[in-house]
Amino acid sequence: MMQELKHLAIIMDGNGRWAQNRGKRRIEGHKMGANVVRTITTWCAQNAISTLTLYAFSTENWKRPKYEVDFLMKMLKNYLDQELETYQKNNIRFFAIGDIDAFSSPLKEKIFEVQEKTSQNNALTQILALNYGGKNELSRAILHNKERISQASNAQEIEKVLEDSLDTRGIPSVDLLLRTGGEQRLSNFLLWQCSYAELFFTPTLWPDFTIVELNAIIDQFLKRHRRFGGL
Ligand code: IPE
Ligand code: IPE
Ligand code: MG
Repeated sequence: MMQELKHLAIIMDGNGRWAQNRGKRRIEGHKMGANVVRTITTWCAQNAISTLTLYAFSTENWKRPKYEVDFLMKMLKNYLDQELETYQKNNIRFFAIGDIDAFSSPLKEKIFEVQEKTSQNNALTQILALNYGGKNELSRAILHNKERISQASNAQEIEKVLEDSLDTRGIPSVDLLLRTGGEQRLSNFLLWQCSYAELFFTPTLWPDFTIVELNAIIDQFLKRHRRFGGL
């Protein structure tokens, strides 16, 4: 049977190294990376992928120098401002996962505004993982559903409660997880949702990543035999 690729998730890593390799400041890498986000997102919308989740800022990324964190926050708001047009033109729904409460009010409002304005679009759902950590997501889900969880009588019921309470509720689990930048780790990304994802790692730094390489990876994915524990 032909493999289905409904949900592609990407850990966009290597922006800082891309810039440093060119003697530039790390933030220049983030700027270039934002262009690649637009290219890849538009391609996914035009090629029948239903969900694209992009890791943009982790719960651990606050450890970075204030200058870089501030830049990323500013860039995120500008990106959402600019991209509304791209979202509407390509019928893309924007959705954020992660602990958004930690962000400034203007940024939060921008996130909610773009979510609202694109909520009826249905070619692709682009999910940005913002202040996202898999452990934090699961912990919040438990915190907000203590009663339902305590009433559950078996593990299966708890699994259902959690599935329904994660930030990704209603979204199919990840089929293909890709990490650019050469590291082979999850860095707290979609721990629950990747339980049966096919994993791909490329040394290409995110600002250098292209549609051509994505196509080659998808070709390999389509040839893999997924068993989901069966035979
Ligand atoms: C990924 O690139 C983008 C974010 C984490 C915001 P990095 O900034 O981690 O780039 P490297 O890994 O240092 O090269
Ligand atoms: C993961 O990249 C987070 C994002 C891409 C947003 P990091 O660069 O933060 O991950 P580590 O620190 O190398 O694990
Ligand atoms: Mg990195």
